[in-house]
Amino acid sequence: MSLELLLSRLERFPTVGLCDLPTPLRPLKNLSQHLGGPMIWEKREDVTGQGMGGNKLRKLDRVLHRAVQDGADTLVSGGVVQSNSQRQVAAAAAILGLDCHLAVYHGRVTPPTAQYNTSGNALLNHLYGATLHPKTWTGDRNGPVQALAQELLAEGKRPFVVPYGVSDALGAVGYSSAIAEIAAQSAQNGFTPTSVVHCTGSGATQAGLAMGAQSALPDCKIVGIDIDAEPERVKGDVIEYAIGGAALLGIPFDASQIEVIAGHAGPAYGIPNDATIHALQIAGRFEALTLDPVYSAKGMAGLIALIRTGHWKNDDNVIFLNTGGTPSLFAYADALSILPFSRS
Ligand SMILES: Cc1ncc(COP(=O)(O)O)c(C=O)c1O
Repeated sequence: MSLELLLSRLERFPTVGLCDLPTPLRPLKNLSQHLGGPMIWEKREDVTGQGMGGNKLRKLDRVLHRAVQDGADTLVSGGVVQSNSQRQVAAAAAILGLDCHLAVYHGRVTPPTAQYNTSGNALLNHLYGATLHPKTWTGDRNGPVQALAQELLAEGKRPFVVPYGVSDALGAVGYSSAIAEIAAQSAQNGFTPTSVVHCTGSGATQAGLAMGAQSALPDCKIVGIDIDAEPERVKGDVIEYAIGGAALLGIPFDASQIEVIAGHAGPAYGIPNDATIHALQIAGRFEALTLDPVYSAKGMAGLIALIRTGHWKNDDNVIFLNTGGTPSLFAYADALSILPFSRS
């Protein structure tokens, strides 16, 4: 298997043109020097396209081709109040000229600030024209979305369900294009990445990276940092979507290589701890790298912890995949200004 084969298999899955690709790969020299570890690079998945970007757009680009083919007139999805996934579904619907209905889960995250329910992604959902349906969080991620789709169908709509986090086998296929870009961009820069580190939750981002890497970058480890405080559930979902995605693409996949690291999710999903805030601060201070307190800063906290335990050699090249999520930063503003800046 090779990069060329992965690219040729990906061509069998058309996009709807949501993304501006490739996203940049930039060296984080100041942060690498500050941490005294390997060379760190940022893959900028925060700028995948319109609607303030993020990792979900890359999945949606291929998943929504099915919606268009099916003649859908409405996208239906679900997530917590500050879900980046929902915001990107709402953005995609606006771009494709579709209606958007979102099941918004209250109760999974206790609002940490007064701005939580109205700022950041919640505000953008309104601006992008989505209709919001408040639901009580029960732990069932997709049930209320399916029920909402049935209601819309009964009203005469043609709904297309986008799964929680845009995570399923086709979402994983969509995300594997990121590793194809990383393979090409790292080769242009004269290195082979030792690892790609990123935060992982609903699973299809890691699934796409892992199955794609086994074909296009076999010497690169994909390291998922759990942000859901459910590492076993996350690992199981990653494996399920990677098996399904690899079958769609017709490429091999070895589940024994899936690595999900626990211990950086903070006290709970959606709640930052001191390490999360420290990661936000030093990424901003040394690189103007704007992380978010729910996802990417927890991923960065995991990366920092691994560097501090000597996980890599100084001449290794490690890519931090910045999955986006910046809008939620503003919904957490009051919770983030409490700690003074600390370099160590
Ligand atoms: C900013 C951000 N990063 C990472 C993730 C995790 O990606 P996945 O759900 O595919 O594991 C999400 C998912 O919501 C996200 O919004």
